[in-house]
Amino acid sequence: MAAVLFTCAGQRVDIIEAFRQAGAVTVAADVNPLAPALYHADLHALVPRIEDDGYVPALRELVEQQGIDLIVPLTDLDQVTLARARDEVGALVLLPAAEIVERLEDKYLAHVLFEERGIASPATWLPNGVPDDAEFPLLVKARHGFGSRHIYRAADPAQLGFFLGYTPVDSIVQACLAGEEFSIDVFCDLDGRCLNAIPRTMIESKGGESIKGMTIRDQQLIDLARDVAERLQLVGPANIQCFREADGSHLLTDINPRFGGGFPLPLAAGGRYPELALALARGERPEPRLGDFREGIVMTRFFSDLSLTENGDGTLKPLAPIE
Ligand SMILES: Nc1ncnc2c1ncn2[C@@H]1O[C@H](COP(=O)(O)OP(=O)(O)O)[C@@H](O)[C@H]1O
Ligand SMILES: [Mg+2]
Repeated sequence: MAAVLFTCAGQRVDIIEAFRQAGAVTVAADVNPLAPALYHADLHALVPRIEDDGYVPALRELVEQQGIDLIVPLTDLDQVTLARARDEVGALVLLPAAEIVERLEDKYLAHVLFEERGIASPATWLPNGVPDDAEFPLLVKARHGFGSRHIYRAADPAQLGFFLGYTPVDSIVQACLAGEEFSIDVFCDLDGRCLNAIPRTMIESKGGESIKGMTIRDQQLIDLARDVAERLQLVGPANIQCFREADGSHLLTDINPRFGGGFPLPLAAGGRYPELALALARGERPEPRLGDFREGIVMTRFFSDLSLTENGDGTLKPLAPIE
């Protein structure tokens, strides 16, 4: 049975449960003892902060102690660190090459990367590079943004100047798109082959996370996502976000090389991504199954909770056993 270490486990209970259902021994790590996903894993560990020199050694120790086969980061936070340290941690890290991870984390470098690889994305500039004839509206977007934070819509040059002064974070300026936004959850093998691509609509998002959506069998989006994933040589799970414009073109805005916030949908639709990840950890080479999923599956999310109590040694444990 494969043992999987989930880093920055946070609230991602759904992913840990899905891997357990797929037959994995699950080990969750987080810096915060109140991260709910810790208590849904077979084993959990508190680790230093990512910036701490002890972070990678702590993961390596867990890998050795628990016989970990596969490391799956669950947030954007430690991806660059893990991608750079992949040869030191002692287990397969489910991430693309460090250079790709670094560039996807920076919305300006991601745009340049998309252009280099022939992937269409909206016109994007650094704040001092916006041409005089740029068409409004424009967005001021956090350069290292996540969760839809620090995004401002400027209707004219005066507002652009205002928002560039107002935003507290390093930003880019990007053409504001008017089309419909879609999200496609892909899974790729270790050679960058796309094994499946499951598009979904974004019916409602809250705090940057999709809370209502539906899987759709849209061949254009499936083909686009496979093409993008393979041009970038993505590895493992990724969430690809794009807009469909009035002329039918698709422009890429964001790629997260991890399980998307809408993970329950590709899971419910039969994507079997945890099984694919475990197959890669066993050294297998599963065949692509593009389009092999159920369309019309609707997700609607809700809050859940967990009650903890003292363990007697300063640690916490669930008040009632978790099923
Ligand atoms: N160029 C754009 N035009 C219109 N809306 C956008 C554009 N870029 C982002 N958005 C909106 O902002 C949200 C967050 O932007 P995104 O680029 O995905 O950054 P992040 O998810 O990292 O915060 C998107 O889901 C989308 O709704
Ligand atoms: Mg996004």
